[in-house]
Amino acid sequence: MKALIVGSGGREHALAWAFRRSSMVDGLWAAPGNPGIADLAECVDLDTTQSDLVASWATEQGIDLVVVGPEAPLVAGLVDACEARGVAAFGPRAAAARLEGSKAWMKEVLDRAGVPTARYAAFSTGDEEAAFGFLDTLPGLYVVKTDGLAAGKGVVVTESLAEARDAVRSYLSGEAFGEAGTSLVIEEGLSGPELSLLVLTDGERAIPLAPAQDFKRIGDGDAGPNTGGMGAYSPVPIVGDDIVGEVMTRAVEPTLATLRDLDAPYRGVLYAGLMLTAEGPKILEYNVRFGDPEAQVVIPRLASDLAAHCLEVASGRLETPPAWRPEACVTVVMASEGYPVQPRTGDPIEGVDDARALGDDVLIFHAGTQREGDKLVTAGGRVLNVTATGGSLAAARARAYEAVNCISWPGMQFRTDIAGAATGERA
Ligand code: AMP
Ligand code: GLY
Repeated sequence: MKALIVGSGGREHALAWAFRRSSMVDGLWAAPGNPGIADLAECVDLDTTQSDLVASWATEQGIDLVVVGPEAPLVAGLVDACEARGVAAFGPRAAAARLEGSKAWMKEVLDRAGVPTARYAAFSTGDEEAAFGFLDTLPGLYVVKTDGLAAGKGVVVTESLAEARDAVRSYLSGEAFGEAGTSLVIEEGLSGPELSLLVLTDGERAIPLAPAQDFKRIGDGDAGPNTGGMGAYSPVPIVGDDIVGEVMTRAVEPTLATLRDLDAPYRGVLYAGLMLTAEGPKILEYNVRFGDPEAQVVIPRLASDLAAHCLEVASGRLETPPAWRPEACVTVVMASEGYPVQPRTGDPIEGVDDARALGDDVLIFHAGTQREGDKLVTAGGRVLNVTATGGSLAAARARAYEAVNCISWPGMQFRTDIAGAATGERA
């Protein structure tokens, strides 16, 4: 089949890597792609915010399957536009992608489905006093989230009531995140280890992929502001089949049933972001796509054909359970100076070839890079996802950091504690 991958980050590079290895795929395109993806697929410079444009390009090109990586085109209706032209597409239609497009709607769906989640209330511009009043009812850890999309950065988690009130003020005024913040959700803070569970679903049948853990904060020991994700690992030793089973029966399946009732059946990969609290797993959020960087550690562990799974999902016939390699996988995100506030771009990146030369167990996924002549330079906040597999998490982690140490650019940032607690090497 001919496949088109939509997106330009490390997640899409991992998708392209898996599709390139599939015996079913004999033509691979990416829009817009990136310099790493360009080694695997033909990159096409399409404006992916224009659903009709992408869908008509796919039709003219004879694409059999469009795989949508990021949330924005899903929320904008790219899958609907492809399906309207008879092109199969992997990902939810806009009606179901709203799960990520509006956190307030997601919380309503969770409540309606009876899924365990943090207590919350939603507010919009003009409701400032009511929002402050709700903050006063919370026990001491405050969470303020933009209703709309904010690239993983619209969440403040704080023990300071003053900081929470400041966030409410700056969100509702539009100053912090524009339109995305003029509606917001306030939640009680939960605590416990976090878990990302990606679930393939055709709307009826749902099959979990291997669990992963993500590191959201910029700094070691979870210091500093939230980011899109600074690293990940899979498997997660503290998460057995019992927890996965509980998440499927108490959260994912009731959610899918509720979405069907709401006439918004969900097809694609559903990302359940969970906190394993003392009272059991609770849903922090759903995303409507593969996690980034979770995909970069889950996809390399897959022994079965990802393209075949995606095609089954997109055609509404999910049948084949995924098969797994026994290896563990760790990815370390290398980010540019200033990320997540104001990433600097244009710094020359050295050492990627040396890192790749370590062996086939090392994969360097490009996230924010650009070619300038024969040089590779930084072009975004998250720049590279340095990924390694190994016979154990400790081996994968050691190998990933060995590869990280080959790479450099001025001002680069990365966490040194990815998978450290899971391997007992770091607190
Ligand atoms: P979200 O985009 O909703 O996943 O939030 C981003 C991150 O903020 C999560 O991965 C958590 O680390 C944190 N977070 C979100 N909601 C809560 C909550 N109710 N309690 C504690 N931390 C939270
Ligand atoms: N890693 C978090 C996300 O993909 O949203």
